[in-house]
Amino acid sequence: MSHSFRHAIVVGASSGLGAEIARQLAASGTAVALLGRREEELRKVAAEITAAGRGRALVRAHDVRRAESVPALLEELVRELGGLDIMVYAAGIMHLPREGEYDAARDRAEIEVNLLGAMAWMAPVAAMFEARRAGTLVAISSIAGERGRRTFPAYSTSKAGLTTWMEALRNRVSRYGVNVVTAKPGFVDTSLLDQVEQKPKGALLTSAPRAASLILAAARRGGSPSVFIPGMWWPIAMIVRHLPSFVFRRLNI
Ligand SMILES: NC(=O)c1ccc[n+]([C@@H]2O[C@H](COP(=O)([O-])OP(=O)(O)OC[C@H]3O[C@@H](n4cnc5c(N)ncnc54)[C@H](OP(=O)(O)O)[C@@H]3O)[C@@H](O)[C@H]2O)c1
Repeated sequence: MSHSFRHAIVVGASSGLGAEIARQLAASGTAVALLGRREEELRKVAAEITAAGRGRALVRAHDVRRAESVPALLEELVRELGGLDIMVYAAGIMHLPREGEYDAARDRAEIEVNLLGAMAWMAPVAAMFEARRAGTLVAISSIAGERGRRTFPAYSTSKAGLTTWMEALRNRVSRYGVNVVTAKPGFVDTSLLDQVEQKPKGALLTSAPRAASLILAAARRGGSPSVFIPGMWWPIAMIVRHLPSFVFRRLNI
């Protein structure tokens, strides 16, 4: 069954993939609520959407670490949008520790934003969609969650947790007609990669518009998929997942 979306919430819509997903949803006539901490950036995305003359865009400054504010904010947004068919959780941070650097506060922040924030948003929306027997939940996880990675331990842990959370949610709500989509991108050309010393190039790097359109295509197709973005990461992930630990620990990835 192909899904069409009239009302959307995008958490983490101020830049990169979330902003691009919001633009593409709006271009197909979806009313979108844009959330993130940088209100200025959210307003720029909203202005582009309204200037293009398609869709409607609401802006709310929101820090996903303030989980207690989610239920009331969700209620307010659904009322203002006039409904909700899809929620996309794109908020994420990544820190690459230097050799010998251990920083528990930074690790905690990554878990709070990438995993706990997603759970705080997904749970009430899943409850709403389960009661309505319809709706699409999308989380942007990562290929990084396939293994514990020496280059970004907390980030890979947060994404493994997010992938597992989405699988569990899918196992709860897909029987009620709710579509649960886990997107696992490889490298996407956004500011998240600014700290990567040797930024991937060529076929290893996907543009944000292409990644966003692949994610939305998977969401529209339905069937509660878990998808690598683009699909070429699937065989790579299979190899990475099955490498024996004594081999994997020798690799600098
Ligand atoms: N780029 C890649 O190669 C890649 C690969 C795999 C997965 N991903 C995932 O894709 C998602 C989007 O990242 P991106 O690449 O588009 O990077 P990005 O441009 O840095 O976008 C990250 C988004 O997360 C939001 N965010 C961060 N902390 C937040 C907080 N405390 N509260 C609310 N929003 C917060 C940011 O908004 P504010 O700063 O305004 O709050 C921003 O909108 C992330 O989950 C990332 O892990 C990216």
